[in-house]
Formats: sequence, C-alpha cells, structure tokens
Amino acid sequence: METTKKIIIAIDGHSSTGKSTVAKELAEHLNYTYIDTGAMYRSVSLFALEQGFIKDDTINKELLLKNLNKISIDFTKNTETGRVETFLNSKNVEKKIRSLEVSSYVSHIASISEVRKLLVLQQQIMGQQKGIVMDGRDIGTVVFPDADLKLFMTASSEVRATRRYEELISNGEKVSYKEVLQNVEERDYIDSNREDSPLVRAHDAYLIDNSKLSRSQQFKVILNLVEKATKA
Ligand code: DC
Repeated sequence: METTKKIIIAIDGHSSTGKSTVAKELAEHLNYTYIDTGAMYRSVSLFALEQGFIKDDTINKELLLKNLNKISIDFTKNTETGRVETFLNSKNVEKKIRSLEVSSYVSHIASISEVRKLLVLQQQIMGQQKGIVMDGRDIGTVVFPDADLKLFMTASSEVRATRRYEELISNGEKVSYKEVLQNVEERDYIDSNREDSPLVRAHDAYLIDNSKLSRSQQFKVILNLVEKATKA
C-alpha cells in the first residue's frame, strides 16, 4: 500500500521568481509550515537600518555583529488576513521588509558569514519536524542538502522586474521600473557571486523556468513532483 510521508521541500532560485507564492500555495495545500528565509535576511537588514548601523551606504559590520543577539525573528499567523507574517522583536514588519530600501541592502547583509551562520541554524531547527516548505537561496545546498524535494526557480530578469515593480506600486511605493530592474540584476549578481553559500542550483534540484508558465500550470508541474517525493 502506498503511504505519504512528511517531507522537506527546498525552493531556491533568483529573486522575484515567485518562490514565496508557490511555497505558500504548496504549504497550504499540503498542510505544511512555510518558512520564508528571505524575510529573515530582510529582517536583519531592517534591524541594521533602524538601529543606525547603515550610514552613507556603509554597513557597520562590527556593530551589527555585536548586536545580532538582540534580533528575534518569528513567523505568526495574522488572524485578520489568515497569512503568516514576519515579526522582528515582536513587531510586525511584513510590509517594511519588502521596501526598496531594505531590498537595496539585503544582499550585502546576506553575504556576511556570521549572519548566515545564525540564520541557517535557526532554519535547520525549524525543519526538524519535517512537513515544511522553505524558500531562499541556499536551502537545497546548505540548509537542507538532504531535502526530499528540491526546486530551483528562475525567469528572465525583465519578467521578474515587472512582477516586482507591480508589487511595489501596489504597496504604494514610488519607484521606477528602471530602478527595480537594476535592483533585481544587482541582487542576482551579488547572490550568485558571494563567497559564502552563493546561489547555485543543487545538482539534484528540478529547474523550473516560469517566464512563460502561468501560476496554475506551474503549480501542476510542482504538485506532480511532490507526489512522487512523498510516496513512500
Ligand atoms: O527571497 P528574497 O528576495 O526576499 O531574499 C532577500 C535577499 O536575501 C536576497 O537578495 C538574497 C538573500 N537570501 C539569501 O542569501 N539566502 C536565503 N536563504 C534567502 C535570501
């Protein structure tokens, strides 16, 4: 008889490829926990900005590292929206961490090894019970190299910038498409070229290019892969 087991699903890929959208849908469908690791790096960046550790475009790494133990990140369900949102030191920062200001520093913050070490450890603890969908850049390579299912998502930078631009505009931010495209390309470069845990496709990750896939087409493809991976 076929049984289904609880698994770890690791979703990595370039920014604005819809990783979090698909991860949330999957988690809901499977009744799994969803962990947005980008939100964790974004929260550390927001903390650094709010504490004044970033001035004139320069990150005071020493001060940030001294204060890392003052950062507590949680994911809690908002009973009004039904969505899981990010809390930094008990404050809901879900919207603030998506701003272009945070986006412009987050790749730099994410290249600091001490920050990665701390967050990776927290992510590994969150996954101990299995039954999770985690998205990020190093989930299939560093956080859970033995994950049962690994996906690597990508799309052209123009398609991704358009998605991100529309999201920022609907959040009320005043941005131009050009600066969003620049930010997407800059983050790709930094994420893929940093020394510690660069963004690479794990050799056993399924590649999903969704430049021309609708959300429902993509979900179907992924559900198929999940079904195979959960059959014990
Ligand atoms: O997924 P996102 O765009 O919210 O991620 C924000 C930044 O954090 C991105 O530039 C890369 C970094 N990141 C990372 O280095 N490792 C992760 N596991 C998740 C995100």
